[in-house]
This record gives sequence, C-alpha cells and structure tokens, in this order.
Amino acid sequence: MGYAEIYAAWKADPEAFWMEAAQAIDWVSPPTRALNDDNAPLYEWFTEARVNTCWNAVDRHVEAGRGDQAAIIYDSPVTGIKRRITYAELKDQVASLAGGLVTKGVTKGDRVIIYMPMVPEALVAMLACARIGAIHSVVFGGFAANELAVRIDDAAPKAIIAGSCGIEPGRIVEYKPLLDAAIEMANHKPDFTVILQREQCLANLTPGRDYAWNEFTSGVEPADCVPVEGNHPAYILYTSGTTGQPKGVVRHTAGHLVALNWTMKNIYNVDPGDVYWAASDVGWVVGHSYICYAPLIHGNTTVVFEGKPIGTPDAGTFWRVIEEYNVKVLFTAPTAFRAIKREDSRGEFIKKYDLSSLKALYLAGERADPDTIHWAGDKLGVPVIDHWWQTETGYSIAANPLGIEALPVKIGSPSVAMPGYDVQILGDDGHPMPAGELGAIVVKLPLPPGTLPTLWNAEDRFKSSYLNAFPGYYETGDAGYIDEDGYLYIMARTDDVINVAGHRLSTGAMEEVLAAHPDVAECAVIGVTDQLKGQLPLGFLCTNSGTSKSDADIVTECVKLMRDRIGPVAAFKHAVVVDRLPKTRSGKILRGTMVKIADGDTYKMPATIDDPAILDEIEEALKTLGYAGG
Ligand code: COA
Ligand code: AMP
Repeated sequence: MGYAEIYAAWKADPEAFWMEAAQAIDWVSPPTRALNDDNAPLYEWFTEARVNTCWNAVDRHVEAGRGDQAAIIYDSPVTGIKRRITYAELKDQVASLAGGLVTKGVTKGDRVIIYMPMVPEALVAMLACARIGAIHSVVFGGFAANELAVRIDDAAPKAIIAGSCGIEPGRIVEYKPLLDAAIEMANHKPDFTVILQREQCLANLTPGRDYAWNEFTSGVEPADCVPVEGNHPAYILYTSGTTGQPKGVVRHTAGHLVALNWTMKNIYNVDPGDVYWAASDVGWVVGHSYICYAPLIHGNTTVVFEGKPIGTPDAGTFWRVIEEYNVKVLFTAPTAFRAIKREDSRGEFIKKYDLSSLKALYLAGERADPDTIHWAGDKLGVPVIDHWWQTETGYSIAANPLGIEALPVKIGSPSVAMPGYDVQILGDDGHPMPAGELGAIVVKLPLPPGTLPTLWNAEDRFKSSYLNAFPGYYETGDAGYIDEDGYLYIMARTDDVINVAGHRLSTGAMEEVLAAHPDVAECAVIGVTDQLKGQLPLGFLCTNSGTSKSDADIVTECVKLMRDRIGPVAAFKHAVVVDRLPKTRSGKILRGTMVKIADGDTYKMPATIDDPAILDEIEEALKTLGYAGG
C-alpha cells in the first residue's frame, strides 16, 4: 500500500490502525481498546494495557537473540573515546542502576531528574527509570542552574542523576557546581544524587547525599522490569512556552512505545540491526525519541555522539562517523549542515569518506532552508527529508515516509501529514482556510498515541495553551499553509517561541530575565534571522532614568545575566539601549514589526501604532548592531 491508501485507512478507522501497530510491542496485558475518550477533550491511548518500556527497548532483544548486537555506539571526538555497548551489556548496566535506585527507595511514579552530557550513561539512566516505572525528566546541559532549579521545583524529583561535567569545544563545563546551586535555589530538595565521575573533572561529593555512579551501581541486586499502566507517564520533558515557567510535556508509556516503533520502518525505513544516528542531544525531544527510545525499541543500533558538526576536530566528523559505523540514516538539524557548509562549501571532506551505507538524511527542529537542502542532496547523493514535529508530539506530524513510499519532494515543505494527524489550517475566526492561504496550523483532536496528553501539574495550562483557541483542535503554535497537493508549509511561530540552532527558546522568558536587571525599566526580545543558527535573540532595553551606569555597561551586564539565568544555549549576545519601544495604542509591544525592520523586510505601518516615529529610532539602533541593512 502507498501513502495515500495507508493514510486513508488510518482516517477510516484510527483505532484499528493503532491496534495493529500495537502488535509490534511486547505487552504484559495487551490493550483491549486503543482510544480512551472518557475525559474528552483530554484523550489517552491504551489506558488499560500493562507494559514496560525498558523491557521493549532492551530485554526483549536479548531474549530474541540480539544480545551481542551493538545497542549503543558511543563516539566522543571531544574525549577521544569510542565504545560499543551490546544489548546484553546495556541490560546489565540498566538493571544495576535501576537496582541502586530501588535500594535507595525510588519506586514507580517517583520523579528522577537527569542532567547529563552526551554519554551512554544518559541513556542508561533514562532506561533505568523506565525499568522501575520512575518518571524521568532530562534537563539539557546547556541550561544554567536557575533553569534546573525551576524544573526541580516543578517535577519534585526524589533523585537527580548527573554527570560531573560536559565537554564543549575548548572548555569543560562543570555540572556539579551548577547542580549544587540549583538544589540550593530550589524549594524542593531531592533525597540523593548519583554522579557519573568523568576523568576530565571529578566532582566534590557531599557525603550522605551524593553517590558516585560506580559505587552506587556495584554489588546491588539488579532490578526487574516493573509493569505499568498504558497511561503511566514515561517522562516529563520541559519545553519553552511564552513565559519563564517552562511547560512540562508529559509522555504516556504505551502510546510512546507503539507510535515510535511504527515510525522507525514507516518514516525512516530502517530495519532491526541497522545503524541509526540522530545527531542531537538527549536533553531535547529528538534525543529522547531518536537517540534513546525509538531505535532501541525497534532493535536498531543508536549512535551517541559527543561532539559538534564542526571543530571536533573538523567539518568531516559526521562523514567519519557514518563510514566507521555504517550509519544508514542520519537525522540532525539544518543548522548543523549550515555550519558544515560554511566550513567546507565544496564538500572536500565528504569526498574523503565512503558514505555508501547512508540511505537518507532527515532534517527537523527548525525550517530547512532550500540552500541547505540542495547542498546536502548534491553532496551526499541521498534523499534529504525535511520533517516537522514538536516536543509536544514526540515524533513527526508531517514527513515524507520513505518506508511506505518516497513521495515527490517539494523543497520548502516537510511534505504531508502522517497517519494519526488530521492537519488543518484555520483562520483567526476558526474557519478552514483555502489551499495556499496562511493560517494557524492545527490538528483535529484526538492527537495520536505518543503525543502529549497533558502538561505536568498544569492541566488548565494545557487547555489554555493548546485546546481553547480552536475547540476540537490542537493548536500547534505554528502558522503556515497547505497546498493543493496536501503538502504543508511551516512559515512562523504564532507565539513568543524562537528557534536558535534548533534549540527552542522563549523570548518571554528572556524578557523576564532582562526585566530583573535593576537598571532596566522596560525591555523586549525578538528573534532576528541568522545565517548559521536560523534565529538569534536580540534585546532592546529602556533604562531607568538617573542610572549612573553607561549603556554599554548595562548591556554587558544583561548579556551576563542571561547566560547565568538561562544558560549559554540562549546565545544571547546582543542588546541595545533605546529611549522607547514601539507599541500599539493599547500598549502591546510591536515585536513583529521590529523583527521585520531588523531582517530588512518590508513592513506595513501598523494602524494601531502609538507613535510611528519610534520605528525610525528602532531602525537606527538596529543599524548600530549590523541589522536593518546596517
Ligand atoms: N552544555 C553546556 N554548554 C552547552 C551545551 C551543553 N550541552 N550545548 C551548547 N552549549 C553552549 C555552547 O558551548 C555555546 O557556548 P558559547 O556561547 O560559550 O560558545 C552555547 O551553548 C551555544 O551553543 P550552540 O547553539 O551549540 O552553538 P555553537 O556555536 O557552539 O555551535 C552549531 C553551533 C550549529 C555547530 C551547533 O548549534 C549544532 O551543532 N547544532 C546542532 C543542532 C542540534 O543538535 N539541535 C537539537 C535539536 S535537533
Ligand atoms: P521543538 O519543540 O524544540 O522540537 O520545536 C518545535 C518547533 O520547531 C515547531 O513548532 C516549529 O516551529 C519548529 N520546527 C520543527 N521542525 C520544523 C520543520 N521541519 N520546519 C519548520 N519548522 C520546524
């Protein structure tokens, strides 16, 4: 069957579709029904089933004779370490860590925060939680102590598992002082921490609270898999919303297993045993779904790569990894390819390696610009598949499903809706927009298995963020259109979220940080177009009258404040002091107009603007930073 038939079959009977996909999972008690709409518009899938994620991702492959197959290949150009971990070894490591957690009182439903760099132990920690029904929440290493503290207070973890350090090109990022500061700041205190001591930096441990990973896991009784209900939360992953309080996206166990497993063959066209590489980070949803869970559930070999596309040591790193491990599919963010292309536009490094194992490149996380797609396709000679998804959905909403059928590619479009998603474009008044016309991108409820059922501790926020604007639909927060052939085009966010090097950040959260500076009276943060990272944040500051500090000093302090509060990942390097901010007569800051001015785009003078002359001042200020044609 081709894509059109499969999509139509799903639409005709979604429950039958997902019940069939569920057969690929090992159940403790199989599902008797797929959708649970008892509490609509909140939906769940496979509620009554009982299952264990770790069993499906690890143990069952050992039982089935794949024990000697590599589950994880760890390649770390920043430390020079390469390691291969078989499914049998992974099972032992996971069961030991899980055993240690159980000994210290962690049980089903307890939360565990994981704050780790790109090492295999990050996956071991996630799977150990899954093994005992603990709910993990992984926090990206590039976030500062304050962001970690916010997540500790919201998730209220019993334990935190962390690395002693991460390694960024040219510097070692000590995680333990950040962790200590976060625990100090948070109101909730974990019972204990487990620290993976890396030789690049040994952390100081507080006796009675901090345990070294090696001692913690040695000599303990290995833990067995604990069956959980289908709607048991597998994890919470915090993502940026419109305010400084991140949203805790919840992922239920059974739907996650069924949907991710389905995507591996149908979307990525890999078979068990194939090597699959998502070059992202476990701290992001791509890392959860496609570094850890999906490849392992499906019996693939996953690559854990601790490095960057360039500079570790050069723009040929990706190609070396593909050749060395026979990678069949590479998945990364377009920004990684822009970085490589900038260093090696002629693709000289590509010519040095045998890339015959590579069958396709998948891009997501931000808009894939046509230049990058053309360059990657020309140089690699494989299909380049743009696909669109979000932390909330956990896997792609729209894609070109190579395992079903290679659809014609339309550059600039992540192709078509996947089974499970009835994607529509609505105008402000909630009416469907005709083909080719821009509107809010929504998905008709219910969302498919594996997508978010709610937000952690915040059901009302879940409804107000996603369900209330268009009753009966999930609001994606993206705007775009669908063409006559059903191809989707993602044009912009409709909220304050920006995308910096594939990392999702909130300008609202950044404004909260700037507003906390004692000399800042008012501020705005916008995302301006950047050739490498897609977007970069830019701050506008109105200072308090009577401050004795110079504008330059205030800007420097604000840049530092952002790094301390949100972290280096915010990439907040530029701000400018202005007298006033452009606003509507009702006081709303005209951020969209400021973005257009910064990017040198034409814009219409907003009819509701309070004082048009301010836009000239903004343009002048932007020119001093090299924007607005300056
Ligand atoms: N721990 C600590 N710091 C981190 C970090 C981590 N895990 N990850 C990034 N940082 C720091 C970086 O060191 C950098 O700090 P600096 O300001 O001192 O230079 C800052 O955060 C910004 O990092 P990054 O966005 O990675 O930019 P970069 O300039 O170091 O590299 C790219 C640019 C394009 C090479 C890089 O962004 C990249 O490889 N992106 C791939 C995209 C990706 O994986 N997206 C995930 C979603 S699919
Ligand atoms: P995240 O939750 O970090 O995965 O970010 C999700 C957001 O990234 C989406 O809502 C989009 O705005 C953007 N995004 C992800 N993939 C794509 C894509 N293929 N094309 C355009 N935008 C994308």
